[in-house]
Amino acid sequence: MSSNRIPVIVDCDPGHDDAVALFFAHARKEIDIRLVSTVAGNQTVEKTTLNAQRIISFLKMKAPVARGASKPLFRDLITAESVHGESGLDGPVLPDVHISAVEQPAFSMMVKVLEESEKPLTIVATAALTNVGLLLLLRPDLKSRIERISLMGGSLSGGNWSPSAEFNILVDPEAAHVVFSSGLPIIMSPLELTHRALVTTSDIERIRSIGSRSALLVAGLLDYFWKVHERAGFLGAPLHDLCAVAVLTAPEIFQGKRGRVQVECEGVYSNGTTVVSLVDFPDPDANVEVLLDLDREVLVDLLVTTLETLD
Ligand code: BDR
Ligand code: CA
Repeated sequence: MSSNRIPVIVDCDPGHDDAVALFFAHARKEIDIRLVSTVAGNQTVEKTTLNAQRIISFLKMKAPVARGASKPLFRDLITAESVHGESGLDGPVLPDVHISAVEQPAFSMMVKVLEESEKPLTIVATAALTNVGLLLLLRPDLKSRIERISLMGGSLSGGNWSPSAEFNILVDPEAAHVVFSSGLPIIMSPLELTHRALVTTSDIERIRSIGSRSALLVAGLLDYFWKVHERAGFLGAPLHDLCAVAVLTAPEIFQGKRGRVQVECEGVYSNGTTVVSLVDFPDPDANVEVLLDLDREVLVDLLVTTLETLD
C-alpha cells in the first residue's frame, strides 16, 4: 500500500449520489478508504447502513462499515424519501449484502481509525454532519489527526430543502455549526457547485455502454436519480456528493475561493442556512475553501474513465 495514498473516512447516507461517490472513491487508487460510516439523512440510519453494506459487498471493499447517528443532535430527523425513494436507493435491483456492519458504532470506529492511522486522515462527509460533529465535540484532541474535511453541504444563496437551506445542513444545523467552527481546514461543495455536476442522459448511456456490472448498477441508479430531477426541471442528475471526493483526486477541475462559513441555528425561517463570506484578502479566520465552479465535461470524463477500471 503506497504511503502517498489519501487515507479517508467516508461519512455518508446512501443515497444515489453518495453511492456514486463511493464507487468513485473505491476505484481511485489515490484514495484509501479506511472506514465508511453512516448517518440518518436521506433515509433512516437502518436503511442508509443497509445501502452502504450493499455497495461495500458489491465492490468487495475492505473498509469496515459502521452505523452512526440515528437522529440529529437536537432535532427530529428529516428524510429525503421524495428524492431517494423508500429504500434510500430506489431504482435498480440492489446488490445482496455479504458484509455486516461492525458492532462498534461509527463514533468508536472513527476514533479507532483516527488513532491508528500513521498519518492524518481526510474526512469526506456527504450527509448530515451529526457523526462528525459528535466526534469533534467529544474528542477535540483528535483534531490533530484530521487533515481536512471535504463536505457536500450548504449554499451561498438559496436552498434545496427550504428557501435558504441545503438538505445536509438543514438536517443537523447544530452539528454543522460544530464542524464549521472547528478551525479545521474544510473544503465545501455547496449547491452552486454541485448543481453544475450534472450527468445527462447521454452521459448515463456512456456509463451504461461500459457494460461491466459496476457500470450497469451505476447507470441504473442514475436513471432513477435523473427521473426525479427531470421532474424538478434539472438538465441532468446533480452528483452532489461526487464533488466532495473528486476534489481530492482532481483539484484542477474545480475553482474556489477562501472564506468563512457560519450556520444559522436559531432562525425562524432560515435554520440550516450557511452564511458564506468570501474573502479577497488574507483572513486568519477563513478556514473554508468554498468550491464555486467546475469543468463538468472533465468531471464526467473522469467518472467514466474511473468506472471503466471496475469490473
Ligand atoms: C445532498 O442531500 C442528499 O439528498 C444528497 O445525497 C446530497 O448529499 C444534496 O443536498
Ligand atoms: Ca448524501
